Amino acid sequence: MKSQKVFSLTTPIYYANAKPHIGHAYTTVVADVMARWQKQKGRETFLLTGTDEHGAKIAQKAEELGKTPQELVNEISGQFKQLWNELDIDYQSFIRTTDKKHIVVVQKVLEKLYEQGLIYKGEYKGLYCFGCEQFKKETELVDGKCPDHGVAPEFVREESYMLRLSDKQDELLQKIESDELRIRPKRFRREILSFLEKEKLEDLSISRKNVEWGIPLPFDKSQTVYVWFDAFLSYLTGLGWQGGNLEGEVSNLWPLDLNLIGKDILRVHATIWPIMLMHLGLELPKQIFVHGHILSEGKKMSKSVGNVIAIDEMLKEFGAEGTCYLLLSAGTIGEDIDLTMERMMEKYNADLANGLGNLLSRVVTLARNFQFPISEVELEKGEIIFTEDFEGLMDSLQFDRALKKIWRIVQDSNKLIEETKPWELAKNDRGKFEKVMRELALHLHKTAELLKTFLPETARRIKKQLKTGERGILFEKIKTN
Ligand code: MSP
Repeated sequence: MKSQKVFSLTTPIYYANAKPHIGHAYTTVVADVMARWQKQKGRETFLLTGTDEHGAKIAQKAEELGKTPQELVNEISGQFKQLWNELDIDYQSFIRTTDKKHIVVVQKVLEKLYEQGLIYKGEYKGLYCFGCEQFKKETELVDGKCPDHGVAPEFVREESYMLRLSDKQDELLQKIESDELRIRPKRFRREILSFLEKEKLEDLSISRKNVEWGIPLPFDKSQTVYVWFDAFLSYLTGLGWQGGNLEGEVSNLWPLDLNLIGKDILRVHATIWPIMLMHLGLELPKQIFVHGHILSEGKKMSKSVGNVIAIDEMLKEFGAEGTCYLLLSAGTIGEDIDLTMERMMEKYNADLANGLGNLLSRVVTLARNFQFPISEVELEKGEIIFTEDFEGLMDSLQFDRALKKIWRIVQDSNKLIEETKPWELAKNDRGKFEKVMRELALHLHKTAELLKTFLPETARRIKKQLKTGERGILFEKIKTN
């Protein structure tokens, strides 16, 4: 009997050419919270992440630093792993495209598609942006430059192996239209549909003659495979696929339930990737979910633009859970989110130190000072029953709205304390005091229950303090000037 399909999800694999930044952390934190949510709903989950380690961009960077490409990618992939560790990301697999097991499968796939005539020898001429590692059309440029990298793409003309894409355009369109391949939020689905309706897909050059740092084509060793072709297959090799029949290899993990990406890589994910899968006779991911960019000072945070807010600084200032809260509550997923350190500090103080932290400490202190045994309140009975609304928000990754709902409970509770002044009630009206305290304890417990998907350690500490009456600071207030 086939066991229940595991909820499988992926982050993109990150380029191993510079240390990780907040944009990368954002995607990975979103994926981690989604995995935890699914687990809490009773599903087994599998989160895959990793690093994209081949291509001209990485070779160039290594040369600049006086390192070999392999040395560079070893170092950078280690930094990604370390960051996921610091952020408590619970991933099940970390794939590196320089892993032997990955390379073997990429070559197997190339061989297979070549034998089937789905890869053929041709010539590529056109514009290529090294920043994106993508071919560009004139119409995509702004003042002759790549809009993401601000650099004019290079003209490339060379003999190259081509992957058939054009024959699959109609089938792809139909799969997106019917939601067999769900693209969300909807406006990204519309964007891709209108692109596929207007433009004709051209066959894609999938090999390079002059890029040595890559996987050689098994049928022509003078060429290496295009980085995106290599990278997409990591979504399969990272799950344990060995290039054969899915049955017995990754049947329980495939298709992906959630392929999480940033908007800059939507086009390739909604064209090349699904067509590669169609060629291989494999099911498409159930959903590609697209998030916007984290901006700083109104611009995309990127290594090439140089306006990166250091994730280390965030971790040092706010801790892992504070960082997670600030990233997820900063704005609507799917839209761009502008961050400044100053605003994050204010929000940290307002929501975490003063809002939640203060509420807990007030309730625990009141309970101690006026002998109210919270531990005897039947907190479990007040257990939150998820309203459909909350579940809907979580299922559709609208974490900022879910967090707002939770903070509503925190705000209402703090308001209840201010309005009823329990320290006075304790002396004048014991009955009412106990009623208010019971309500506060239930609210805090409910908050912890809801928060455990986002901030598990915080949730655990709230429950512990409610149970033991132990006092402790949940979030240390940050001094700002
Ligand atoms: N290696 C490719 C992905 C291959 S997946 C088969 C790549 N790597 S990347 O490191 O440049 O970007 C990885 C992810 O990080 C992308 O989803 C991208 O959108 C995201 N981010 C990079 N900078 C970002 C922000 N400033 N904000 C939010 N996410 C952004 O593309």
